[in-house]
Amino acid sequence: MRIDLSFSASSFDELQLRDKNVIVIDVLRSSTTVAAALNNGAREIIPVASIESAVKISGSLFGEVTLRGGERNGKIIEGFNLGNSPREYTESTVRGKSIIFCTTNGSVAMAKSRYAKNMAVASFVNLTRVVEYMKEINNDFWIVCAGKAMGLGSFSLEDAVCAGMILDRLEKENSLPMELSDSSRAAQLLHKSLGRSLLKMMKNSDHGQYLKEIGFEEDIKVCAAVDSIPVLPVLSGNVLKLRKDDRAPESELAQGTK
Ligand code: MLT
Repeated sequence: MRIDLSFSASSFDELQLRDKNVIVIDVLRSSTTVAAALNNGAREIIPVASIESAVKISGSLFGEVTLRGGERNGKIIEGFNLGNSPREYTESTVRGKSIIFCTTNGSVAMAKSRYAKNMAVASFVNLTRVVEYMKEINNDFWIVCAGKAMGLGSFSLEDAVCAGMILDRLEKENSLPMELSDSSRAAQLLHKSLGRSLLKMMKNSDHGQYLKEIGFEEDIKVCAAVDSIPVLPVLSGNVLKLRKDDRAPESELAQGTK
């Protein structure tokens, strides 16, 4: 099992991921928001790379079952229903909805991975589910850290530490030999040195400090809670859905028992 890693979504072309097994990480906050929304009953998440695409797609979908969610500079986009705080995606808001999702880096990385053979969305909140998924596929993977394009350079510390934690778990639990690229090994070393206090690491990261400045400090705690949302968002066609064994039967959702 060879694992390569990109520290930023801007560092590769989408065709480089064609037919590959891909894990997308955007801890603060897109990956966490996707897990929260699907866990709370959203039907699907449609990641798009631009606001124009979001408007175009939502125009062609049926309004009553479609929401637009996302951010620019961490704040809700004008004309959207939801921002990118995982706490906004409550069951009463998202159950049964298709969510067109547009964020600065996370949705771009997810959209760029649409040609992958397999793709799952990872964060600290669903870390063990992701490790189990990678062990099950048991083949080469490409980990894509969304990174940051908001004038803070493209490297995201929390994404890299999350990737390193996944690699550490895999190395301990997987019987098969793993071949790590230099970037994968670097992420693992970052987790070894910073993984003991994820909340402190995230509060002090560039984006964590920015989120605190704009009033989203509470989101950092939500995003740091390991395995608190144990679901697996996977690519299904061009959209993200819960892996079928995570999905409540439609009837349960309709009855509101999920
Ligand atoms: C991103 O996609 O760059 C982040 O998730 C932005 C954010 O939600 O603050």
